Amino acid sequence: MYEIIDGKQLSASVRGEIAAEANRFKQKCGRQIGLAVILVGEDNASQIYVRNKIKACEEVGIKSFAYYLPQSVAQNELEDLVKELADNGEVDGILVQLPLPAHIDAGKILGLIPVEKDVDGFSEQNMGKLAMGEECLAACTPNGVMTMLKSKNIPIKGKKAVVVGRSNIVGRPMALLLLNADATVTVCHSKTADLKKECLSADILVAAVGKAKFITADMVKVDATVIDVGMNRDENGKLCGDVDFENVKDKCSYITPVPGGVGPMTITMLMYNTCIAAFRREKI
Ligand code: GUN
Repeated sequence: MYEIIDGKQLSASVRGEIAAEANRFKQKCGRQIGLAVILVGEDNASQIYVRNKIKACEEVGIKSFAYYLPQSVAQNELEDLVKELADNGEVDGILVQLPLPAHIDAGKILGLIPVEKDVDGFSEQNMGKLAMGEECLAACTPNGVMTMLKSKNIPIKGKKAVVVGRSNIVGRPMALLLLNADATVTVCHSKTADLKKECLSADILVAAVGKAKFITADMVKVDATVIDVGMNRDENGKLCGDVDFENVKDKCSYITPVPGGVGPMTITMLMYNTCIAAFRREKI
């Protein structure tokens, strides 16, 4: 019998804890924790993400500083804003919503975010720290997956974890977090020779491919934990993950649904990282 890891429920409980910490911070420091959010252009998905991030800030008592810049913004203008926020004492975290327009050097912009304010964990410095097993701010989606695994006391140490996907935002940091938690980790991608064989070896299988129902039941070991990071539309336009949930679920010990699984955890972990960044900056 499988058990669902309910990301919505877990997210609500973690947000409750963050709200209490944000309040404690305010009492101690006489100011709210601050998060700056920068959105460039009018991409629909990015607008929704940013709106939800700002809403989450309000919910947990974090002060948001929102900046909406036109698609045509110049590189130096965006750089100047990030530098200003880097020096702003009221700002504990800086988030630049991706993707940025093609004429912007995104790497250079992310590189201007001080490592201690990089609440997305996307900078080379934070990724480097994560790769070396040092204390850092880890990317929100993979960090959310780790929180989900821990919430159910799912063993990680010594277990075989397979991550399908090697993006900088999910696959790579996910693999590093699992490695840092003492799993034996394999990262699969589009050039992997025998994907099914690799997946079948997984005690913990994380799907972050971006293809609807890509992970099928024949790829999943009996009693595996299956984590679905995907967010796709199926042939009927219905929201679905990278995992063929209906056919895979009965083989699992634990599985995350889409929607209501990993998705809600991402913004919650952004609030968490912002909270951690604030406490570290104020040395509390
Ligand atoms: N674009 C898609 N996901 C993310 C995210 O988690 N953070 C940022 N900054 N941009 C994104």
